[in-house]
Amino acid sequence: MNRMLDRVVLVTGAAQGMGRSHCVRLAEEGATIVAVDLESAAEGLARTVEEVEWVGGTCVTGSADVRDFDQMSAAVADGVTRFGRLDAVVANAGIYPAAGNSWELDDSEWHRALDINLTGVWHTVKAAVPEMTAGGTVVIVGSTNAVKGSAGTAHYCAGKHGVVGLAQTLANELGPQGIRVNMVHPGSVGTPMILNDSVYAKLRPDLDSPDEDDAAEVLASRTLLDVAWVGPRDVSNAVLFLLSDDARYVTGTSIVVDAGLLAKVA
Ligand SMILES: NC(=O)c1ccc[n+]([C@@H]2O[C@H](COP(=O)([O-])OP(=O)(O)OC[C@H]3O[C@@H](n4cnc5c(N)ncnc54)[C@H](O)[C@@H]3O)[C@@H](O)[C@H]2O)c1
Repeated sequence: MNRMLDRVVLVTGAAQGMGRSHCVRLAEEGATIVAVDLESAAEGLARTVEEVEWVGGTCVTGSADVRDFDQMSAAVADGVTRFGRLDAVVANAGIYPAAGNSWELDDSEWHRALDINLTGVWHTVKAAVPEMTAGGTVVIVGSTNAVKGSAGTAHYCAGKHGVVGLAQTLANELGPQGIRVNMVHPGSVGTPMILNDSVYAKLRPDLDSPDEDDAAEVLASRTLLDVAWVGPRDVSNAVLFLLSDDARYVTGTSIVVDAGLLAKVA
């Protein structure tokens, strides 16, 4: 219950999905949360605050687009002013852009995906790391698409592969200062990112109006364990481990939470 006691943790993409789950899970273990998301996600952020408070935690919010370094910097500064320190950051914000063959992708969609999923992570750590001291920890949320390609998602895969290089570089730069940097790589996770009609249609082109159950059939066939997707909390538990002192000598590595998706032999 106290694995994050007195730690101040900033989480990006905190208005829904895994970001909200990380905030709640870390608060359950005593963390104080700075929850950051887009200005347009204020309602979701308010809900995150409520859920953190239900578990007895403290949570302030910040609005920032991770593509804008000045906004990220201001959100970090506000958190530090409010709580006097920053111990950890979870670079979680991301998008799953519209699919298409690599050579057919729209230029603006390519740049948008890279700007949010790669440059946005760099902005997050660039703003947060100078506020952190020995004992500080960084977790970057990647994906199974950070270690393996898949058809139709070049912009997503390229951005996620890119953050692996960023994380491993940061681990080398920050290890001597006593700051650890790791990643979690989720497989499919039951959040609004995949539980929506456009992903169902992509997974089931054979059906006119596929629903969640139709999509689940396809995703379940890709895992080793008997589940189509893991829950946000399953990923948050890995984030918690990496941020906590249980992982005090763990840096420059990653935990895959994917029900066996990467390991499955086709
Ligand atoms: N859901 C999955 O199956 C899955 C699988 C592997 C990896 N991931 C990764 O996990 C992370 C969280 O995904 P999720 O499933 O919770 O997604 P989600 O869509 O439910 O939530 C993403 C959050 O990021 C925020 N966000 C988007 N663009 C932003 C920006 N420019 N600046 C600030 N915030 C922004 C959104 O407002 C939203 O609150 C992402 O990095 C995603 O790529 C998700």
